[in-house]
Amino acid sequence: MGVTVPYQKTEMASRFDEFLSLDISTPALVVDVPRMDRNIRLMVDRLAALGISCRPHAKTHKSIEIARRQLSAGAIGITVATISEAEVFAAGGIDDIFIAYPVWAAGAKRQRLARLNDTIRLAVGVDSVPAIEHLAAAADMSVRPLRVLVELDSGEHRTGVPDSAGAVAVADAAATAGLEVCGVFTHGGHSYGSRAAARLAAADEVDVLGDAAQALRAAGHAVRVVSGGSTPSSPYAVSESLTELRPGTFVFGDRQQCALGGLGEDDLALVVLSTVVSRAHAGQVVLDAGAKVLSKDLPATVDGYGWLPRYPDAHITRLFDHHAPVTLSAGPEPTLGEVLAIVPNHACAVVNLATELVAVHADGSLEWWPVDAHSRNT
Ligand SMILES: Cc1ncc(COP(=O)(O)O)c(C=O)c1O
Repeated sequence: MGVTVPYQKTEMASRFDEFLSLDISTPALVVDVPRMDRNIRLMVDRLAALGISCRPHAKTHKSIEIARRQLSAGAIGITVATISEAEVFAAGGIDDIFIAYPVWAAGAKRQRLARLNDTIRLAVGVDSVPAIEHLAAAADMSVRPLRVLVELDSGEHRTGVPDSAGAVAVADAAATAGLEVCGVFTHGGHSYGSRAAARLAAADEVDVLGDAAQALRAAGHAVRVVSGGSTPSSPYAVSESLTELRPGTFVFGDRQQCALGGLGEDDLALVVLSTVVSRAHAGQVVLDAGAKVLSKDLPATVDGYGWLPRYPDAHITRLFDHHAPVTLSAGPEPTLGEVLAIVPNHACAVVNLATELVAVHADGSLEWWPVDAHSRNT
């Protein structure tokens, strides 16, 4: 153990090396603010050039500060997955929110939805006729009509009605129940496979949404919003049919996005800083960021639970709650107490576990940003 050959610095490793000497207790999630702002600006501007609005999914960062930065860069509003995420962002002054989820507004959720609808410009997803009864009950408690977007399945086979006929059936039922049908949406999540898959998913989104929008209009609905989006499919977005996109992960990037080829290493804006706490076993060091920090998310496109740019041939092969054993290969080895940057496999999963982000500004100054919507999953 202990080879002394200096490692080859990639631009990526050099960048995060600057963070290693910061006075930050590990494990910690560190955000490269200039890079994040650049990611936001590039996405918003590129979509604007296509005539498409950006409504980023805030589940990736769960941070009011970052949502505000997205809005000041030109995003028209944000997307969330849950009512409680929407509540947090609304309380933070974000006043245009789409809950891109088939909300089942039973019980106490009705009142919460009504309160939100009276406070901000709200829209919610729907993909079934039975869900409409609950949404209409929420709308009855509100002074304003509740806006809904009908969800379509464009190939991910998760949620969403399968075709335009199904979309018209849901839209008709929603309008009859007094809801304001304002458009259609889909999540082309089958983009998560390869670059080719992402390109096809982007085309599927346009086809499926275009057909559905046309069918809804023919049935007398005013379709103002046609909303698609995922990070891998967003480079292939075309303005035809779409009015807005909802990418989320692009804000930080992660190892999975790099493996898919849509984002480069120089786009990465989030790392987990972690300290080597043990070298008790040959060929292995142990980091202080376990499953409770890195999550056990293991996409098919990567191996191991995170990537160490400084030691690119080392692998985080196992994860315990608070231990990340790293299997070493030939070459330089991390020393005890060394702080390492880990590029997480999936940014959303890692942020979801955290309560704060350490923001590093261009001048090297630090700020601690709360993960405002931490554990807001209801
Ligand atoms: C409904 C919906 N819209 C948008 C997104 C954003 O996708 P991505 O994180 O790939 O940018 C997601 C992600 O899961 C989603 O579920």
